[in-house]
Amino acid sequence: MRSRAWFDTPEYYGFSRRAWLRSEGFSSAVFDGRPIIGIANSWSELTNCNANLKSLAEAVKRGVWMAGGFPLEFPVMSLAEMLMKPTAMLFRNLMSMEVEESIRAHPLDAVMLLAGCDKTTPAMLMGAASADVPAMLLTSGPMLAGDWHGRKLGAGTDGRRLFDLYRAGEVSEREMGEIECSLGRSAGHCTVMGTASTMAILSEALGMSPSGSAAIPAPDSRRLAMAEESGRRIVSMAKENLRPSQIMTRGAFENALRVHMAIGGSTNAVIHLLAIAGRTGVQLSLDDFDRISRETPWIVNLKPSGDYLMEDFYSAGGVPAVMRELLSQLDQSALTVSGLCVGDHTGNAECYNREVVRERARALSPEGGTAILYGNLAPDGAVIKPTAASPELLQHRGRTLVFESREELMGKIDSEDLPVDSRTILVMKGGGPRGAPGMPEWGQIPLPKKLLKEGVRDMVRISDARMSGTSFGTVVLHVTPESALGGPLGLVETGDEISLDVAGRRVDLLISDDEMDRRRAKWSAPEPAYVRGYGRLFLDHVEQANHGCDFDFLKSR
Ligand code: FES
Repeated sequence: MRSRAWFDTPEYYGFSRRAWLRSEGFSSAVFDGRPIIGIANSWSELTNCNANLKSLAEAVKRGVWMAGGFPLEFPVMSLAEMLMKPTAMLFRNLMSMEVEESIRAHPLDAVMLLAGCDKTTPAMLMGAASADVPAMLLTSGPMLAGDWHGRKLGAGTDGRRLFDLYRAGEVSEREMGEIECSLGRSAGHCTVMGTASTMAILSEALGMSPSGSAAIPAPDSRRLAMAEESGRRIVSMAKENLRPSQIMTRGAFENALRVHMAIGGSTNAVIHLLAIAGRTGVQLSLDDFDRISRETPWIVNLKPSGDYLMEDFYSAGGVPAVMRELLSQLDQSALTVSGLCVGDHTGNAECYNREVVRERARALSPEGGTAILYGNLAPDGAVIKPTAASPELLQHRGRTLVFESREELMGKIDSEDLPVDSRTILVMKGGGPRGAPGMPEWGQIPLPKKLLKEGVRDMVRISDARMSGTSFGTVVLHVTPESALGGPLGLVETGDEISLDVAGRRVDLLISDDEMDRRRAKWSAPEPAYVRGYGRLFLDHVEQANHGCDFDFLKSR
């Protein structure tokens, strides 16, 4: 046991560490050789999505005590998608460092990671991968579906859709007030296939979360029972020394990518999976995403791409039902936190609702939910979610309206004299990891008010930003290299033509090479947004989106 190096030492510090811990009221029995299980808790009142993690931690502790372990809960940074400015993504790597160092510095034989909101799950997995002490991740679970006038609402997909109708004058002020208190009816993460649901599901597919755990609703008693059971199991993991490096293998990542495509998962998962893999030494690239996307059908019918919510997904059988459907394409030998392999868990999984989890033969689309684009506008790649896009816009050529910054866009987008029609391609610069900085979820550029009033509900939009997993539309994201580094996106001018060809996986700026060179020669880099502190560290070390936006010095060596 790793913890023995803290407590079973003959010199003064062995004695004093025991004495100081006993000042919390523990008897000498806790030092009888039992594993010490850390519970890394990202609970915070600032993070509504993680607000039930205190009760989950208590259930984990019950399980740990039952199995003969010694649980010790500790706080880690919490990242609130809705409240953090400029964006929670700016702090994902910081949280991952805190998780890694908290695990490494303390006398822990294994650690239970409690996460929920979008960035907390990848940050926990990144930190645990780097520390490589036995670890399991449990998520807060999806919140209850919103309920407004008998209509089920999914936060935030339906919130965005209704807000657009409000901007168009089709939903009243009073109705927006009602919707505001009807959207999220409990703690837990967003209940559509947004980033939090996607990352919870992918943690299960990776083998880092218990089979069947990801989709249990946050307030459901079965989530507490799952936490208690997981508390029992992690004590065995400590004894077996079953570490993340044995679970998060190449096969496990390929399984996660395949599940990502089948669920129509959030585009943010591309960045997070690349970053987690980077911590393990597994070589993953955008090309792996595109290859697996082409081979994997989209079969899970959840918003924003489909019709249902996470509660429906849980009732339909959850992740095991999806993996059963994909079984022939999965690495069934991949190990999971249970000590069993993927094939053992999913071979007999049942599906209880074939409208939510389709059979492969009735797939919603023969290809997966994420496509990777290249072209002279994105030499190092860009991402689009075809399942959440308008089919008629997936092949499109149009003139651009360019916004040099988010500020310019927000100042102009509602002008009645904006020079746009439904074929215009909206381009926004300055949304990348360094440019924004932090790569915020600005990529679903709001539609111009004058077009909303005309009934336009989608347009091609292109940026180097990310998009919330709860969003929808024909939106090209993560254009790399980003504009603030002098990537071709930074050279686009209003009136240029762009060609989008999702089937051919291309996005091209239709100007000559000479013109591109002329503009590049005139381009100058923006002033850095930070000159000190964490922001400066971020700017100096963050990698581009095609490498997961991790810090260069945190990658596995
Ligand atoms: Fe936390 Fe959506 S805001 S999961």
